[in-house]
Amino acid sequence: MPKALIPGSFDPVTFGHLDVIERTAKLFDHVLVAAVANPAKARSLFTLEERQAMLADVTAHLANVEIGAFEGLLVDFAMAHRVDAFVKGLRAVSDFDVELQMAQMNERMSGIATLFFPTAPEHSFLASSLVREVARFGGDVSSMVPAPVAQRLKERFNQ
Ligand code: PNS
Repeated sequence: MPKALIPGSFDPVTFGHLDVIERTAKLFDHVLVAAVANPAKARSLFTLEERQAMLADVTAHLANVEIGAFEGLLVDFAMAHRVDAFVKGLRAVSDFDVELQMAQMNERMSGIATLFFPTAPEHSFLASSLVREVARFGGDVSSMVPAPVAQRLKERFNQ
């Protein structure tokens, strides 16, 4: 029963993430989507519980997708959950350097390889950080994130 793990900050989950999750769910028996407890990049806009709730909401139609969370090293979580592969989306060449380095480091530590999906072209510019910024200033994010996420962004920014 091949099992994939899609890790990320998901602050918040975008249509780009959802596309990768849906495509992975077609190829693997089981997909574990795990939000990192303490994103490295910045203090998160949404709490871990909120990020997980949004993930659960937007993946409710996918019977083989489970939402989780992890703290510390990704490989420790992956080995404890006996996953067969990591899956990540690649938007542009700029993602490649850092993703390749992480993939090689993770494989060295765990023996678990990373598979990459090229992001669908219509989502290639999408980044959670940009979505947060657009939403913060009242921009329309309805084409970038699923409706429940757009709603939460509105509430977070008191709009
Ligand atoms: O959505 P993001 O922010 O690009 O996800 C990055 C994430 C969470 C996958 C990465 O930062 C990570 O795996 N963090 C856990 C700590 C860890 O294992 N670091 C070593 C990576 S080689």
